[in-house]
Amino acid sequence: MNKKTDGEAAREELKPDTRLGVGGRDPFAHHGYVNPPVYHASTLLYPTAEDFVARRGRYHYGRRGTPTSEALETAIRDIEGPACAGVALLPSGLAAISVALLSVLRSGQHVLVTDSCYGPTRTFCDTALARYGVATTYYDPLIGGRIAELMQPNTRAAFVEAPGSLSFEMQDIPAIAEAVHGKGALVLMDNTWASPLYFRALEKGVDLSIQSGTKYIGGHSDVMLGTVSANSKTWAGLHELVGTMGLCVGPDDMFLGLRGLRTMGVRLAQHHKSGLAVARWLEARPEVLRVLHPALESDPGHAIWKRDFTGACGLFSVVFKPVAEKAVYAFLNALTLYGIGASWGGYESLAIPFNCKSVRTATTWAPGGPAVRLHIGLEDVSDLIADLERGFAAMAAVK
Ligand SMILES: Cc1ncc(COP(=O)(O)O)c(C=O)c1O
Repeated sequence: MNKKTDGEAAREELKPDTRLGVGGRDPFAHHGYVNPPVYHASTLLYPTAEDFVARRGRYHYGRRGTPTSEALETAIRDIEGPACAGVALLPSGLAAISVALLSVLRSGQHVLVTDSCYGPTRTFCDTALARYGVATTYYDPLIGGRIAELMQPNTRAAFVEAPGSLSFEMQDIPAIAEAVHGKGALVLMDNTWASPLYFRALEKGVDLSIQSGTKYIGGHSDVMLGTVSANSKTWAGLHELVGTMGLCVGPDDMFLGLRGLRTMGVRLAQHHKSGLAVARWLEARPEVLRVLHPALESDPGHAIWKRDFTGACGLFSVVFKPVAEKAVYAFLNALTLYGIGASWGGYESLAIPFNCKSVRTATTWAPGGPAVRLHIGLEDVSDLIADLERGFAAMAAVK
C-alpha cells in the first residue's frame, strides 16, 4: 500500500490488477521507498544471548525468510485470494512441482497424474517418487468426475494441469476436485498457464496451486523461480517440508519475481489478445489442420475454459496438415521473430516442434499431422503474422 493509513480490510475488495501493484509493499517500513529493499542475508544478529536462545524477533536466519521473501510471498498470496493460507517460494517451477508432491505423499501411497502433464513432472513421478515407494497412475486429462473410478484405498492425491502441456486439453477441475475430495484425497495443480489471474485454482477445489514463476511472473526470460500456494489443509505440511529441506530462493531472483509481478496483469492481457489474434489467423490458413487453444470457439475444451477461466496466456499449439519433417523445420528456421528454445512467458515469441507420442501412457497422441508450440510475445501482431507467412513460404518451397 502507498499510504500509512491504508488498512488490510480495504485490500480484500481490490481488483486483481490493483492487488498486483500493492501486494507485499510497505513503503513506510523502508523509509518511504516504493519497493522493498533486497536483503542479501544469511546471519541475523540478536541483541542479547537471551534473545538468541528464545529466538526473539520476526526473522531468524536468511534461509527461513527475509523481508524480500515475505514481500513476494505476500504479493502472490494477495492475488490467489482469501483461500490461500500461505505461499512457498522455490528455485524453479519444477522444484515447486516436486516439493508440492513430496509435501503430501508418503511411502506406500498412490497418486493420479494427468497424462498431459509437463514432461519433467512425469519424470519426477517415475524416478524419485517411485524410489520413495509412491506409485503413479496416469489418467486421461478429459476424465472429469470419472477419476473416482481410478482411486485406490491408498490414493492420496490427483495432479492436474490445464490446459495440458504442449497438447492443451482442458480439464474439468471442479468435477475432478469433487470426485477426489469425495474420497478424502487432495488436488494439486500446475497453474502456470493461466496463473491465479485467469484461474482461481484455490477457489475451484485445488489444494496446492503451483506456478513456474520463470514464466509470466518473471516475464523477461531472465530468472528461474517456482511458487506453491496452499490452502488451510495443505499449508502446514508444505511449510514444514520447505523448511526442513532447506529450500530457499536467492534474493535477486525474488526481487526479479516481485518486479515482474507488478506488470504481469498488463503483460498477460496483451499476451491473451495477441495470442488469440495469431491463433485465429492460423486457423484460417490452408496449411493448418487444427489450432490447440482453449479460448478458440472451435477448441473442444472451449466450454470449460469459458466457464472456469477469465483469460488465456500467449502459449498454444498448431497442428499442420501432414508434411515432411524437413518442411516443418524449414518453417521454423525461416522465422526471424520467433526464437527456438524451451520455456515461455517472457516478452519474446518462441516456436518449437514437438511430439507427445513417446510420453503418453494413458492416451494416444495422434493429432493428424506434425505439431509446433508457439509462444506469442509482446511484439506487434502484424509483424508476428508476417513472420509466420515467411515460415509458410519456406514450408511450401520444400519439395
Ligand atoms: C507447464 C510448466 N510447468 C512447469 C514448468 C517448469 O518450470 P521451470 O522451468 O521454472 O522449472 C514448465 C517449464 O517449461 C512448464 O511449461
